[in-house]
Formats: sequence, C-alpha cells, structure tokens
Amino acid sequence: MRMYDIIAKKRNGETLSEEEIRFMVSGYVKGEIPDYQMSAMLMAIYFKGMDDRETAILTNEVAHSGDMVDLSPIEGVKVDKHSTGGVGDKTTLVVAPVVAACGVKVAKMSGRGLGHTGGTVDKMESIPGMKTTLTEKEFFHVVNTAGLSVIGQSGNLAPADKKLYALRDVTATVDSIPLIAASIMSKKLAAGSDCILLDVKTGSGAFMKTLEDSVTLAEKMVAIGEHAGRKTMALITNMDIPLGNRIGNSLEVIEAVETLNGNGPEDLTEICLQLAAGMLYLAGKGSLEACRTMAEKAIEDGSARNRLIAMVEAQGGDSSVIKDPSLFKTAPFYKEVKAEKNGYITRMNTEQCGIASSLLGAGRLTKDSVIDHTAGIELKKKVGDRVCQGDVIAVLYASEEELFAVSEKEMLRAVTISADQPHEIPLIYARVTKNGVERLI
Ligand code: URA
Repeated sequence: MRMYDIIAKKRNGETLSEEEIRFMVSGYVKGEIPDYQMSAMLMAIYFKGMDDRETAILTNEVAHSGDMVDLSPIEGVKVDKHSTGGVGDKTTLVVAPVVAACGVKVAKMSGRGLGHTGGTVDKMESIPGMKTTLTEKEFFHVVNTAGLSVIGQSGNLAPADKKLYALRDVTATVDSIPLIAASIMSKKLAAGSDCILLDVKTGSGAFMKTLEDSVTLAEKMVAIGEHAGRKTMALITNMDIPLGNRIGNSLEVIEAVETLNGNGPEDLTEICLQLAAGMLYLAGKGSLEACRTMAEKAIEDGSARNRLIAMVEAQGGDSSVIKDPSLFKTAPFYKEVKAEKNGYITRMNTEQCGIASSLLGAGRLTKDSVIDHTAGIELKKKVGDRVCQGDVIAVLYASEEELFAVSEKEMLRAVTISADQPHEIPLIYARVTKNGVERLI
C-alpha cells in the first residue's frame, strides 16, 4: 500500500477503506508517513470530506493509537461531558459537581486553552495547590471518594490526534467537520466513560460559526459515540456571546462558585442545568424533566458546591477560595472600557472578546506563554442592554498596565452599538440524539 495512492484516491473524492485509513494513521504515528504527505491528505479530506463510515473508522484508529482508559475500578455509571470550546465557558466546573451530587460519577479529562478559547485545566490551576495531573490510581480514588475528578489529558491518550491536530493547526485544516468529529470523539472514546454529553457551540466564538454546521458536527459525533456503544447526546448552544459575565481563569472559577451557590448569571445557570440534566438522563436517572429538577435541587441544597470542595481538597487544592471566593488573588490593575455612543448593544464578537482576554495574559499567545490566572474581563453589559456614552461596558484586569491599550481596542471592536433593540438571542438551539434533531427554538 502506498500513501501516494491513498492521497490520490481521496483527492478524487473516493471513499477510503478501513485498511487504508489504518495504514495512514499507524504509519503517521510511527513516523513512516511524513508530514508533507499527511498535510496533503488532510487538505484532500478538507475539500472532499469523509462519509460516516470513514469518519467512524478514523475515530477508532486515532482512539486506539494510545491508551484506552479502563474506568472499571470506578463503581457505577461514568458520564463525561465535552464542550467544543468557547469564551467564558466554565460549565464543567458547575456541571460536574452537580452531576456528582446527584449520584453519577464524573471522571473527566479536560484540555487547556486553545486559540481564543479557554480551557478547564488552566482555570482549575488558578486554585492554589490544585493538581491537574494525577496517576491513574489517584484519579480513580478521587472519583470514588469525591464523586468526580477533572484532570488534564494523560500523555498517551490518542497520541495520533495530538500529532494530527498540530499539523491541522498549521495547514489550515482545523475546521473540517469529519476531522473535528474524529479528533474530539477519539479522545472521548479513549477516556472510557459510558455516557457522553456533547456541548456543541455555535456562533462567532465557536469553531462552528453556523447552526447548520454545528448540527452536522453534532450528528456525526453522536453517531460515532452510539456506534462505539456509548450513550451520546449533544446540545447545540449559543457562542455568539460570551457565556456568563466573566472571562479569564480565576474570574471564571469565581463565577462557577457563584453559580453553585445559586447566584450565577441566568445564561450560565440555565445552560449548566440543561447540560447536567442531559448527563443525568444519559446515566439513566430518569426523564429529562426529572433530571433537571434533581440538578436544581443539588444547587439549592449546597450538595453540588460540597462536591466541588471535596474534589479540590482531594486534588491538593486550597478549598478556602471555593468557600470564600474573595480570597482569590486578584490582578493589581484594572481598566474600565466605556461605551463610545448611546444605543443598544446588538453584537459582541465573541472571538474578539476571547482575544481581548488573552491579550491581558489570560490565554496563551504562543505555545510557551505563561498564563496569568488573575487576568481577564468582567462584562458589565451584554447584548440587548441599553447604554449611554461613557457607561462602563466591561472591566479589564491585568498584572501590567501596558496590556490595557491593545486589549481595550480589541474589546471596543468586538462590541457593536446600534439604535435598534436587538431580538433576544436563544441560549440552546437544539438537542441531538441517535433518534434525530430536536429543535428547541
Ligand atoms: N477540539 C478538538 O479536540 N479537536 C478539534 O478538532 C477541534 C476542537
């Protein structure tokens, strides 16, 4: 078999066989297929696509390129959640404790920030002492005792994806639906949970900018999960506006704690309740309505907050900042961003808000950047709010005052102020299961 022939086949729009996909993934991981041939293949897939069978085979090969985690030492049903990435998305820090408080185990491997989007592991590391790397034995122990554990991805989880993702990142082939589906689902299958809830973001701050593409991606991922014997469901949620009011690592942990205390922003609380209900439903805890009521109760009675405290303590973190978020270290400098005219905020380009936060030090501008956990943005106004010239739209936080100028410029570019009041924007567009797409608006 020759990689040249497989590239030509895909370039011509033909379907690849299981043997050909296996040859290409294993050859690439072993270093037998060079980057230039794999780059050509990725571009051919970008233009010609892959059908569901090819995507499922690719996912399986990438998943099996490294360790397949066996979660059987953890008792009961294990449920995982994945977000396709967004700005201000701190849902894992709320949803995982809620689900654990309702008696379903969450053993989750999360990622770091990527581009303009934040990552749960970076956020957790703003908690003093918090370990996000555990041995497998420690990980299982934390899940069995606290009910949940969230750690960074182990080094040998889908190594083919690591290599392929790095190549896609520099060959303009990231935003291909079959490649994204295989990338995400390979890691979810390798991570071993019985049930997978996918939060597929749509809009200006997401990888998928249109609802149609987001639904297609969700359908593909649900099909892959179900085909592999995992109960899988997806929610399509709005990323045309940052989620909640805070962007940045410790700022987002604080907002997650406020949400667990019942005082979170409405949009974040609603999405978290829907995601938690979906996870509990997949785990067999009852109807979606009953699961939502269960999730609400776990917030009301403080049991979800207690699960977060238990996880933080079990992973070596200082839980006093969770019990009293005012103890979080704060940035030494702040700057108010003010409205330049009167009107309604009709748009907040979410990718630009994420970039503005990164420019303050909250994200990585290069692979080796060190994150400033105290940096970020607090939104004082959001889409639909009326503002007068000079009103504070957002507050920027940073450790160096020189960072404000460029971030403020990006933030002002992100916000559109117009005379007409915009329509209310939906939070959740659709639910995708193996039975089809249920539109929720
Ligand atoms: N997240 C991933 O893990 N992979 C992708 O391809 C895109 C987002």
